[in-house]
Amino acid sequence: MKIEELDVDRCAFDVLQLNTSLVESIRETIRAQGPQSFAWFMQQALYHPEHGYYSSGRCEIGRKGDYFTNVSVGPLFGQLLASQFCEIWERLGKVNDFVIVEQGAHDGQFALDVLEFVQNCLPEFFEALVYRILEPFPILEQQQRRRLEAFGDKVKWPDSPEPFTGVHFSNELLDAMPVRLISDGTEKLVGLDSDKFVFVERPIEKAVLNQPALDWVDEIAANLQRGYVIAIDYGCTDEDFRRTVQVRAQHRNLHSPFDSIGEADITMSVDWRSIVERAQANGLRVTGFTDQYHFLTGIISQCGRGGSSEPPAGDWSQSPLPDSRKAKRELQTLLHPEMLGRAFQVLALAKNVAPETNPLAGFEFATESLR
Ligand SMILES: C[S@@+](CC[C@H](N)C(=O)[O-])C[C@H]1O[C@@H](n2cnc3c(N)ncnc32)[C@H](O)[C@@H]1O
Repeated sequence: MKIEELDVDRCAFDVLQLNTSLVESIRETIRAQGPQSFAWFMQQALYHPEHGYYSSGRCEIGRKGDYFTNVSVGPLFGQLLASQFCEIWERLGKVNDFVIVEQGAHDGQFALDVLEFVQNCLPEFFEALVYRILEPFPILEQQQRRRLEAFGDKVKWPDSPEPFTGVHFSNELLDAMPVRLISDGTEKLVGLDSDKFVFVERPIEKAVLNQPALDWVDEIAANLQRGYVIAIDYGCTDEDFRRTVQVRAQHRNLHSPFDSIGEADITMSVDWRSIVERAQANGLRVTGFTDQYHFLTGIISQCGRGGSSEPPAGDWSQSPLPDSRKAKRELQTLLHPEMLGRAFQVLALAKNVAPETNPLAGFEFATESLR
């Protein structure tokens, strides 16, 4: 037997061992304590300290991984967001120690795309900038530290959220937060039929579906002193919309969250209304909501204007963004309505910032409202 084959076999064996442990520990809890909420199950499958899909570092994003995100499309996404962050910095009076807080930074690719672009194209902003990553999982923090090594002290990994002035950014963080499955007075719990996982329905009084996401809003609001929160995700604003669980592995949608436990991503569309209500209760103001297509188009139209109120040049050569075939392909993927353009929405919240006479660049063409 060749050595490569041996390695492959060993890898497969390791994964089997890990998942057996995860599946067994989930079964043990259900046997001992009865059916558990889907939020608890999702927490185990994605974030179990040793064997979870994310916390174990097993999740791969991109062509060779389980699914694509805006970040994995290429550096253009980070470059466009960097331009939006720079505009925010200008609006806050070009403060020193302007902080970008990123949460859900995964392997640090978005941070790298932003920092490289700002260093090369926006040097004054680079001087004023501090990049903070909030990362609960040591294995992901190690990956991020390796990837961002060249930026030295510019990037920090605080142990807990700290007060900041600047912008909090996340891409597909909220959809990965655990949720309970409740509709029409019934909750779906995860139970066992001998060794098989099954849904068990129980009647329930009024309950909160997405408590971790609401706790997240409270935490950011408590730490944001002045500035913005920008969250990009796929979600709904309509109460009647049927929210569904998505399970993804190797670029396929799986039929059940009980397939490939610990080896597949599990997400739920974001309930934007409850996020906004919680944000407003915490003193944050909605300053923009639109789909990704309109958001990125707004940023592009402002790039290269250099603060001028002239109409956009409509010419890539006027912009600091790259003018290459690869960048245009990336742009098409990010904007196209049947690719990522309409699937994702962008929510911006503000705190201790005077109401804008002009919207932020990304919301210049905003079509939706959530106020
Ligand atoms: C769908 S991935 C998105 C990764 C990256 N933002 C991108 O767009 O490619 C979700 C990420 O959120 C992270 N995550 C989930 N809950 C988190 C939390 N409370 N704090 C920080 N990261 C979290 C997961 O570990 C995972 O890396």
